[in-house]
Amino acid sequence: MKLPNLPFFKKQPVANQQPMVQTPDYLQPGVMNPMQGQVQPQAQPPQTQVQPQPPQGQPTQPQGQSSPLGKGKLKLQVGFPAIKSLEKGTVTLADILAPSSVEVDFRYIRVGERYHRTFFVVDFPRFVSPNWMAPLIDFDHTLDIAMFVYPTSAPDILSDLRRKIAEMEATIASESEQGKVVDPKVTAQLDDALSLQAELAKGVERFFQFSLYVRMSADTVEDLELASKRLISTLSSLLLLPKAATLQMEQGFKSTIPMGQDTLYIPRNMDTTSLATTFPFTSATLTQNKGVLYGLNQQNNSLIIFDRFSMENANEIILGKSGSGKSFLVKLEAMRQYMFGAEVIIVDPEGEYPTLCRTMGGEVVSFSHSSPIKINPFDLSGVYEEGENELGLKILSLHGLLRIIMGDLDAAHDAILDRALVMTYQQKGITPDPATQRKEPPLMEDLYKVLLGTEDPAAQDLALRLEKFIKGSVSGVFNQQSNFDISNPLTVFSIRELEEELRPIAMHIILDFVWTKVRKSLKKRLLILDEAWYMMKYEDSASFVYSIAKRARKYYLGLTTATQDVEDFLRTDYGKAVLSNSSIQMLLKQGTSEVDLITKTFYLTQGEKELLLSAGVGQGLFFAGQNHVAMQVIAAPFEHELITSNPQEILKQREDAKKVIAASGGSPTPSAPSSPTYGTISSQPTPSFGQKPSAAAPAPQTPGQY
Ligand SMILES: Nc1ncnc2c1ncn2[C@@H]1O[C@H](COP(=O)(O)OP(=O)(O)OP(=O)(O)O)[C@@H](O)[C@H]1O
Ligand SMILES: [Mg+2]
Repeated sequence: MKLPNLPFFKKQPVANQQPMVQTPDYLQPGVMNPMQGQVQPQAQPPQTQVQPQPPQGQPTQPQGQSSPLGKGKLKLQVGFPAIKSLEKGTVTLADILAPSSVEVDFRYIRVGERYHRTFFVVDFPRFVSPNWMAPLIDFDHTLDIAMFVYPTSAPDILSDLRRKIAEMEATIASESEQGKVVDPKVTAQLDDALSLQAELAKGVERFFQFSLYVRMSADTVEDLELASKRLISTLSSLLLLPKAATLQMEQGFKSTIPMGQDTLYIPRNMDTTSLATTFPFTSATLTQNKGVLYGLNQQNNSLIIFDRFSMENANEIILGKSGSGKSFLVKLEAMRQYMFGAEVIIVDPEGEYPTLCRTMGGEVVSFSHSSPIKINPFDLSGVYEEGENELGLKILSLHGLLRIIMGDLDAAHDAILDRALVMTYQQKGITPDPATQRKEPPLMEDLYKVLLGTEDPAAQDLALRLEKFIKGSVSGVFNQQSNFDISNPLTVFSIRELEEELRPIAMHIILDFVWTKVRKSLKKRLLILDEAWYMMKYEDSASFVYSIAKRARKYYLGLTTATQDVEDFLRTDYGKAVLSNSSIQMLLKQGTSEVDLITKTFYLTQGEKELLLSAGVGQGLFFAGQNHVAMQVIAAPFEHELITSNPQEILKQREDAKKVIAASGGSPTPSAPSSPTYGTISSQPTPSFGQKPSAAAPAPQTPGQY
């Protein structure tokens, strides 16, 4: 966008110097004395009210209402000395609002206890883009910005322009005749004037005069000086030339309070297009022409449609207090991404996803003592990557897992464990040579035996710590060969039936298993880690999540981490690293204890902080790279029915399902889960998604599971 570099026209007669919206001059003459810098007498305070107020002494009572003193009536009888003195004794709104004193200095005006300084802009950049004033609007200090727009009649301007153009052409012609180099500024001005003349003549553009004033205030003169310097450099970076309204601080103040009075009157010529770019408020939209719908932009009701795979990485982090709608959002996105062809893998510690998964034709893998599905943490990916030692990486990852299982290890224990792991693989003929890595991997039991066979008290201690996973209470969960492969494009790993302390171990093993799968074949995938705080609790599993977040992009994987434990998540280095490796960040409702940390981490404004504190369910902020908008997550009724975790709604669904079954006189189809938890829609996998429940799917869930 171009702001024409037009010659400065002579000022319009004073009669025309009124802005488009004019309000009457309520200011009391003589209230402020601009030249003498005096403190004004308190008896007649200046009018500094935000809303235009009637002049002092006039009734402030709305019409039709009479005060107990019958003031409206008294007004008619002004002249009677008794009434006059009665009026003097009443308090007007202006008396309440007005500051106790006003001091007008050359360089500032002090109103009450605050110092103000007004700047006017004398020069504008030649080229601008829409919303170019954003740095000024977002300036990190309290500012009052006033803009005055004066429409000017086109015929007057055209005749002025004609004369100016003739002048400039004459200047150029005479300078060329004298053999001088023509001033490029004059040539540029001439070009602008000619194009404006053409546009005005055609009626495409209209002509305006525009003035821009900025008033800043501070508690001390020193603060005002500092803030002024920053403001000048911000404005200069926008190629605006600001000047302080020295000796005109009173006019500056009056021009920048919401009264619509331009008492400074320092305008600049502009055509319609240039003027349009000065519109200060543009709300961010996050609408792309591809991607999935996340929700509604609360500011302008536009749709937030976003393709997370278009960002530098496709990772997403969702932070919000319990019940803020994190899982709802995750489920909604998972469904929509799945319908758009992404493979979705969900690690579900709370057992919230089976209904959704089965309805969509996905596979629920229940990870428990009794479950037939097993994953061996010693599995190798069989993927050979140039420069990577697969076995070495696996042993490192097992170290992490075993530290979660065994608790903290000192250097001696760590060294023995490392040796034992290498030996365990060696006993199965597996070495760093990729050719050997297709052999059957060892089991946890093999490691246990190696440790038992090592004559070292530390090794015996390690074996003891591992024992319950081999023959104790937890045996059989992590100590068998894998008998499962992710074959369904929608897979949910449910670990709800495992004891709380086993969940991080299971999550680690599942993540490792999924990560191996992800590296084997390249596909658009989402890996969802709900209740990620289970993983972030332990340094080793947190570091594993971080390593996935860091490398996911290369494998076309988007990692979603959702957590309610904002403090714990953001206080760890790995949590922070996962956050900085997530291009999309969703902040849902926050509690008072976390909001300060969130505000600091995300550099939120006061308004945004309050928005998060007062957000309703499913409301929050959506950050995508540099953009962020206020969002309301919305689901279609059929989606809501599938993904809600509201017990009342689920109960109602179950009752409805029972009624349907009773009415049809039969039992639910054997192929579909028989539990009424799946509601009316979900009693059978939807054929439109083309997925059949896998034979490996576990037995139907108990009614308690949803
Ligand atoms: N956008 C939404 N519109 C309507 N209802 C919603 C929305 N988001 C969430 N809900 C409802 O709010 C309740 C809580 O949502 P959800 O289970 O997603 O919370 P959460 O943040 O995951 O909580 P927790 O941390 O305890 O798991 C549920 O009953 C859900 O149906
Ligand atoms: Mg949840």
